[in-house]
Amino acid sequence: MKSAVILISGRGSNMQALVEAQPGLDFRAVISNRPAAGGLPWAASRGIETRVVDHKAHPSRESFDAALAQAVDAFAPDYLFLAGFMRILTEGFIHRYPRSILNIHPSLLPSFPGLDTHRRAMEAGVKLHGATVHFVTPALDHGPILVQAAVPVLEGDTEDALAARVLAQEHRIYPQAARWLAAGRVEFRGADVVQVRGSGVAGDWAIAPRDPP
Ligand code: GAR
Repeated sequence: MKSAVILISGRGSNMQALVEAQPGLDFRAVISNRPAAGGLPWAASRGIETRVVDHKAHPSRESFDAALAQAVDAFAPDYLFLAGFMRILTEGFIHRYPRSILNIHPSLLPSFPGLDTHRRAMEAGVKLHGATVHFVTPALDHGPILVQAAVPVLEGDTEDALAARVLAQEHRIYPQAARWLAAGRVEFRGADVVQVRGSGVAGDWAIAPRDPP
């Protein structure tokens, strides 16, 4: 069985979704850069090893990433899942784990990289928003895309309502991506394009706001 380590910074709802889905990966540890991350006690309660590498204890990104790499390497994982991990990783760290670091981002990349994605999507007036699981490369929020899910932006939406609609999809597609990786179905086509062998589309794939019948 392939193994994984999950990196978090906060509540860890995506971490929970990954673990509870039992995607066929051995989750060896959860590591947080914040000692108070809400996800840590949950992981421990599931018998998963937890570690803290506090970014505030490090004078530079390089020294934090070196300590993080040491913590990760102790578990020798095949994959690293960033699940609400809110630190920008150095190129050195990313190159240490080629094609092995996954991230979930709350927008349909390449639209809205960075922070405050739901507010920015609403301000831009987009009608479809969503979430993306991608491989991490040094270009922030721009690595090869593994899976995306779209949701409509509805009349009268608030940022919180939109965020909740997106988060429900995050909890669906991150475990899906993990299952594909566990099954060895993920293939690179060149440096930028990822395909999943045998994946299809279930149900109504035209997601667009429309008048009710
Ligand atoms: C999630 O919405 C995730 O997509 C986002 O932070 C939230 C973490 O929630 N990640 C990023 O914005 C990464 N740039 P969680 O801790 O409950 O999984």
